[in-house]
Amino acid sequence: MDKTEELLNRAYECIEKNKDKVNSDYYRLKYHIMPPAGLLNDPNGFIEMNGEYHLFYQFHPFDTKHGLKFWGHVKSRDLVNWEELPIALAPSMWYETHGCYSGSAINNNGTLTLIYTGNVKDSEGNRETYQCLALSEDGINFRKYEGNPVIHNQPLGYTRHFRDPKVWRNGQDWYMVIGAQNEKLEGRALIFKSRDLTEWSFIGEAAGSNIDSTGYLGYMWECPDIFNLNGKDVLITCPQGIEPVGDLYNNIYQAGYFVGKLDYKTGRLKHGDFIELDRGFEFYAPQTTLDSKGRRLLVAWMGLPEEEDHPTVENGWIHALTIPRVLELRDNKIYQSPVEEMKLLRKNHVAYSDILIDNDEIELEKVEGDVLELIAEFELFDSLEFGIMLRCSEDGNEKTIISYDASEGKLKLDRNKSGKGYGGIRRCTLRDARKIKFNIFMDTSSLEIFINDGEEVFTSRIYPDKDSKGIKFFSKNGKVRLIRLDKWEL
Ligand code: FRU
Repeated sequence: MDKTEELLNRAYECIEKNKDKVNSDYYRLKYHIMPPAGLLNDPNGFIEMNGEYHLFYQFHPFDTKHGLKFWGHVKSRDLVNWEELPIALAPSMWYETHGCYSGSAINNNGTLTLIYTGNVKDSEGNRETYQCLALSEDGINFRKYEGNPVIHNQPLGYTRHFRDPKVWRNGQDWYMVIGAQNEKLEGRALIFKSRDLTEWSFIGEAAGSNIDSTGYLGYMWECPDIFNLNGKDVLITCPQGIEPVGDLYNNIYQAGYFVGKLDYKTGRLKHGDFIELDRGFEFYAPQTTLDSKGRRLLVAWMGLPEEEDHPTVENGWIHALTIPRVLELRDNKIYQSPVEEMKLLRKNHVAYSDILIDNDEIELEKVEGDVLELIAEFELFDSLEFGIMLRCSEDGNEKTIISYDASEGKLKLDRNKSGKGYGGIRRCTLRDARKIKFNIFMDTSSLEIFINDGEEVFTSRIYPDKDSKGIKFFSKNGKVRLIRLDKWEL
């Protein structure tokens, strides 16, 4: 048996062995991409090809901890119904003995081509990183390129923290942005260029910690992505090592972006400030793709590195991906909305309008549940705090609160009483809070809350009791008007 077969057999055996336990878990999500068993982390290789969306993900089939990474693979025609495909990559070669790490996909004249990082650790634990290709003609079976690795070493002056290639085409050439760390231990996004995907030359640094007006922004940048959005260039990156500042950077590692202009000759991005993409608790390693409708789509890992204490672990699986979002740039800020295909999942519409809530807490008939979409639009009068309590238990002890605190001028997601798992509060400000529209996607153990048509998003896992399905709308010390409320089961 060759090494690939051996690894795949072991992986499928492990999945099979855990299947019943995994599938018995109430917290299994109903419309999100999850690992069949074991651990999922970054989305990889997001691409639309021949009318189908492919998504790959970092996958550890043997455990719910990080370890030997494979690439899991799913595809879909509509971004909401996903079909599970065979594992795309197993770490079988000398240049990837410790995992097929993150990367991207491109359509090279009809060949679905993956570019990823081969991760190797020697007997002393020193890391080596190799950038590699894998090719597929049928979009299911992948073969590793014989000339792998296509990049053997990081450029001079950088450490071996050199990974997560994202490749795109510009004119005649392919360009790659890759996450890196320099020898002064500052995070970097580096640009490479190639005619044929096999020979790459180093162009320069797109951006980094302590460059120009960018202050210290971490010791390593993971999972960078560069694309054009509404006429500007955007660099998304995940810096590690930034300390929290007030409401900002409260997660262990960040995921955010810069808007600017990329100089393809020098590789340098002239850019503005770093802005976090999501205000919730679990959001990391986003990856985007451009689809045939011209949309810039984003999917992220609904999890974070080094946080493996989720209650699903006892049932043999951990983590999921977010629903796909569409990005748009307005006034140099990214707005994110759920893809309109999410509407395909809507069932049993319930609607209300024009309800005044005066220092009160109300429930609405047929507005409850655990797998649903809600649109709630409020108009603020003189309330000091208003919002929605989700996943409420009958006794009122369990609840997850999304609210606007008018005295602080802040939006707040409070999961201190959400049930099992991690707690905490996250906050952010809004440009205009006179009217606030919440578009909430709730799944059995997740929340994705889009605010004011994508100005902010809070993404989080929560683990309430399966019977906690109540929803309450509230206003404290004053009035608020619920202009409209729509609810669908999903
Ligand atoms: C980000 C990351 C990447 C790496 C991958 C390994 O979460 O650490 O930098 O390629 O995960 O699974």
